[in-house]
Amino acid sequence: MSTKNRTLGEYIIENQNSFKYSSGELSKLINAIRLAAKVVNHEVNKAGLVDILGAAGETNIQGEDQQKLDVLANEKFIQTLTNREIVCGIASEEEDDFISINSNDNQHQNKYVVLIDPLDGSSNIDVNVSVGTIFSIYRRITPVGTPVTLEDFLQPGKNQVAAGYVVYGTSTMLVYTTGDGVNGFTLNPAIGTFYLSHPNMKFPEDGRIYSVNEGNYIHFHQGVKDYIKYCQEEEGDRPYTSRYIGSLVSDFHRNMIKGGIYMYPKSSVTEEGKLRLLYECNPMAFLAEQANGLAIGGKTRILDVQPKELHQRIPFFCGSRNMVLKLQEFLTKYH
Ligand code: AHG
Ligand code: MN
Ligand code: MN
Ligand code: MN
Repeated sequence: MSTKNRTLGEYIIENQNSFKYSSGELSKLINAIRLAAKVVNHEVNKAGLVDILGAAGETNIQGEDQQKLDVLANEKFIQTLTNREIVCGIASEEEDDFISINSNDNQHQNKYVVLIDPLDGSSNIDVNVSVGTIFSIYRRITPVGTPVTLEDFLQPGKNQVAAGYVVYGTSTMLVYTTGDGVNGFTLNPAIGTFYLSHPNMKFPEDGRIYSVNEGNYIHFHQGVKDYIKYCQEEEGDRPYTSRYIGSLVSDFHRNMIKGGIYMYPKSSVTEEGKLRLLYECNPMAFLAEQANGLAIGGKTRILDVQPKELHQRIPFFCGSRNMVLKLQEFLTKYH
């Protein structure tokens, strides 16, 4: 069968045994994420027609005003995963604390925890610009049969067994890795089926796109400022092109296909940066490394960072290998 004709469902079954733990549980979990992605896609697509645009009127634990679609996407993912009893715990950007999942028939028997950014790029919802969902999956550390604890969620990103994102864009795509490369599936909305459209995705080694919120330039540290100036200099293949959508998922997706670097640095006003280590940076870093790219939080590799709390923030630089290495040269000059 040609790769173009293969559906995500078929791909999951075919690859079930290549996964190192191969119990089938991870495949069921990816299947549930596929289903939740279709449900959220349906909601996002009709957002302008029904009353789900705008603010929900609540503030989340991050101190952000929740949008109605943040809340809806959060509910849909949690419901879908909970109803199928395939995870033992969920942590979400939109929830204060992690959720332990259990039922009478299933006494904490599941092995996986999921961490999600249910709706990434909230500021783009009302203006019909691409948004996404990010997910990250770990095996629990505590023994099966006992309730999950915070320790199960605070694992370094290198322990991830799978991670991915959905981008609700001009077409809807689900892109994920189980540690054996990155594959992208495009939704055919007429029949509600994802097809393998982007097998074995890789960041080009070099790129010509830099993505950063330059409005914050004045607050950046000198190394980042100098790198941005380097991107803008006229020399060799520079100046580079600046592209910033404001949805990490969409910026990452474009850079992976075309070659580029994404930056959310710390600044004089946000010492930790903005992006969340567990829901945003770790899954994107796992995908980046699986696609020949790099992801650092300053001097350190993102996947090596030992998390201290659920909603921890961290500076994030990610993309084409040679671009990240060049940026790192600038950062180390000032440390
Ligand atoms: P979220 O919508 O999940 O809260 O994430 C927003 C994040 C990320 O998607 C995006 O790249 C970044 O915030 C944009 O931040 P700025 O508006 O500060 O540039
Ligand atoms: Mn948010
Ligand atoms: Mn986000
Ligand atoms: Mn979000």
